[in-house]
Amino acid sequence: MLAYGGGSIKKSGIYNKICGYLKEAGKEIVDFPGIMPNPTYKKVQEGAALAKEKGVSFILAAGGGSVIDCCKIIAAQAVTDKDIWEMEFKDHIFPTEFLPMGAIVTASGTGAEMNNGAVITNEDTSQKTGVFGAYADFAVLDPGYTMSLPAGQVISGAFDTLSHSMETYLGLPRDINLSDEIGEAVMRNVIRNMRVLIEDMYNLEARSELMWASAMAENGILKIGKVTDFQAHQIEHQLGAYTGCNHGKGLAVIHPVLYRHIYKENIKQFARMAEKVWEIPADGKTQEELAEAGIKALEEFIREMGLPHTFTEMGITDKSILKKVAGTCNLTAGCCKKLSREEILEILEECF
Ligand code: NZQ
Ligand code: ZN
Repeated sequence: MLAYGGGSIKKSGIYNKICGYLKEAGKEIVDFPGIMPNPTYKKVQEGAALAKEKGVSFILAAGGGSVIDCCKIIAAQAVTDKDIWEMEFKDHIFPTEFLPMGAIVTASGTGAEMNNGAVITNEDTSQKTGVFGAYADFAVLDPGYTMSLPAGQVISGAFDTLSHSMETYLGLPRDINLSDEIGEAVMRNVIRNMRVLIEDMYNLEARSELMWASAMAENGILKIGKVTDFQAHQIEHQLGAYTGCNHGKGLAVIHPVLYRHIYKENIKQFARMAEKVWEIPADGKTQEELAEAGIKALEEFIREMGLPHTFTEMGITDKSILKKVAGTCNLTAGCCKKLSREEILEILEECF
């Protein structure tokens, strides 16, 4: 089954290329188009039904995080009559059997090709959340395949990688360790290459570096020995459930506001990030001043990249959804402090 999105792979020629290789190898192809950004659970069911009906033996996902994520859960749903959502969220059982799958990445940033977590929107329950499915048996990361990706998506995808790295880095433990030092290198690399792309959007070397960084941020290496905290992600996912907004852009708005609310509980790590990632000299600054300078640098970088600063800039106009987002998003243990729903609402209101 060749699964893809709204048609970008047909325009870019990737579709014909893949079909050519598959036909050459004597494979029969079942087409599964139309996987939308922020894939829905209904689309998962449609894919699983098709896979069952056609007796599919392998799923090839060609696209960005949305296509890959949708296929991870199709791979699980296609081999069982139990409902995967109920299985995971009611019975707390995770699937262990899957159709094999591969991923051909056409948009980097999520690192979805590297893990078995899929972010799926259940429209019936208004939830956008992590569901566990198949790991890709292989992933093709050819930066040339991202060349047709629009500039806005390239930048928001790269910011997603930065977000994954920051959310991992700020988690416990707070003493410096190898995972964090690799994380610092990944973050510096992302920032540097985003700056290259903003000047020269078709720079293959920079797209290549960002694709590799995207994989590094989500392949588990940065998370070794860390209690990761993905509170910004949890807030953004629920915002996505109610608005269908772009993931990286939502994160760009949420991060600085969230960090201003929590940095005082983890000044040391924020100060370290300012020095090691944003390369702000310590000279005479207190740890708190350094931490604040780092958040300011993040905010300025977001502006420099043309990413939004407010939900309004993203085109979100209905303020009444903020309460729903705060009331339903997953609460994490907190990289600095566990936030209450009231605090999350305050953060969301500041983002508006
Ligand atoms: O659908 P098509 O026509 O292919 O167009 C897509 C889509 O409109 C387009 N696109 C992709 N490759 C292209 C291209 N256009 C031209 N040329 C290409 N080469 O880009 C648009 C966005 O694609 P999408 O897959 O939605 O973007 P992204 O890769 O940013 O994925 C976002 C989804 O991944 C989830 C997000 O929540 C969101 O649902 N995430 C998944 C994660 C994971 N599994 O580990 C982690 C992330 O934190 C994230 O939450
Ligand atoms: Zn993300």
